[in-house]
Amino acid sequence: MPSILSVPVRALGTVDSFGMLFSQYSSNFKTLDDILAVIGLIFVGRIALSAVWNICVGIRSMFWSRLWKKNFEKRYGGKWAVVTGCTDGIGKAYCHELAKDGLNIVLISRSMDKLNAVAEELKSQHGVETEVVQANFVEGETLYPRIDKHLQGKEISVLINNVGVMISHPKYYDEVTDFEMWSHINVNMASMAVMTKLILPGMLKKNKGAIVNIASIAATGPIPLLGIYAASKAFVEFLSLSMNSEYYWGHRGITIQTVTPAYVSTNMTSFSKWTHTPNPATPTPA
Ligand SMILES: NC(=O)c1ccc[n+]([C@@H]2O[C@H](COP(=O)([O-])OP(=O)(O)OC[C@H]3O[C@@H](n4cnc5c(N)ncnc54)[C@H](OP(=O)(O)O)[C@@H]3O)[C@@H](O)[C@H]2O)c1
Repeated sequence: MPSILSVPVRALGTVDSFGMLFSQYSSNFKTLDDILAVIGLIFVGRIALSAVWNICVGIRSMFWSRLWKKNFEKRYGGKWAVVTGCTDGIGKAYCHELAKDGLNIVLISRSMDKLNAVAEELKSQHGVETEVVQANFVEGETLYPRIDKHLQGKEISVLINNVGVMISHPKYYDEVTDFEMWSHINVNMASMAVMTKLILPGMLKKNKGAIVNIASIAATGPIPLLGIYAASKAFVEFLSLSMNSEYYWGHRGITIQTVTPAYVSTNMTSFSKWTHTPNPATPTPA
């Protein structure tokens, strides 16, 4: 029969073992703290490294690359570049940059008068040859044999898959017209996929070439009310990144670059003064 005195003694024993338990756990907590601190350090270090890397890439492409004269013909193995959606905005700026380097340009776009005007500008300002192809990418599959004829016999070093459309204002998907839906599929997605199919085999023969695909910051994630545009640009980004792994990192000699601009002051962003007025966050294409 336990004496009445043994109760507080046992209670004391419980307190003792609780104290021991706590001290054991608290020493574990310190170890846990240390582990969490290391994980935190790795996480912050990774973010810091990636920020430094991105800044270096930005300096390299925005400043360093402008210091030297480039020779795209030698580097990418051909005298010709092909630019889609070339009569305005970002596409037109690419034409001037490539022509400045001495490349002849195959100009592919929708409006004949604007095509002729850009061809004239390139000839007079940079003394290069041009080939004009009037094409409306909305047409889809039947268009490409005609484009292909214009590409025959040309050593193509650079392809800029730039052409793109965007719905005029944010709207629910059921309000997107069939025309708008097919335009996003045919102009934004199919043009990039098919133009690459036409030109890539020639580049692979010489193991040289560069393909630039204009995606968008909109491809970062789903954008309600602009879903069709965001999804079309996600297609461009995913295919482009996959191809770069296959043909650049896979040592086939082809650079495939994915460009993901935020707002650029062009016709596409003219729907709002806020997105169209040039400022450091909304640059002009050139
Ligand atoms: N501007 C931005 O803020 C921004 C941001 C991210 C990504 N982007 C992307 O950058 C690319 C260029 O955009 P941008 O702002 O320079 O556009 P833009 O100023 O509107 O120019 C578009 C060009 O594409 C041509 N084009 C349009 N629809 C066509 C069609 N169905 N068939 C053939 N050509 C057609 C236009 O020809 P016409 O002269 O005949 O109209 C024009 O030359 C697009 O892929 C766009 O999605 C733009």
